[in-house]
Amino acid sequence: MAIHHGHTRRTVLTTGAAAALGVTALTACGPEEPAAPAAAAPGSPLAALADIPVGEAKLVAGPDEEEIVLARPTETTAAAFSASCTHQGCKVKAEGKDLTCPCHGSVFDALTGAVRTGPATEPLPPIAVSVREGQIVSGA
Ligand code: FES
Repeated sequence: MAIHHGHTRRTVLTTGAAAALGVTALTACGPEEPAAPAAAAPGSPLAALADIPVGEAKLVAGPDEEEIVLARPTETTAAAFSASCTHQGCKVKAEGKDLTCPCHGSVFDALTGAVRTGPATEPLPPIAVSVREGQIVSGA
């Protein structure tokens, strides 16, 4: 009887509404990933902690692309210093537990930046770094 007509009409309307919703869902894509910045920004990884032997240091590209001294005083900690000799600004080299200056022979402690041998008299200025999930990152 008349009940059958009502059922058929409701089915058609429901199908039409679903098709309209489908079009809307297709346009809802996520935003694109932002491109990685060319220069290391504060907080960006400088090196993996595991890349530096415990008790030694290494020269790596710092946050402003200038090389810095990255040290690993203990298994789980990192420290960083300017690589510019405090005597006349030559770049120091990392040699085990020492940082040596090729210009006039100053030697610094690779883990603290302190002067071991002159002519330099001032320690290498520290740079703030921290360890996050095995990565040494710039900033405290
Ligand atoms: S500049 Fe490093 S010892 Fe003179």
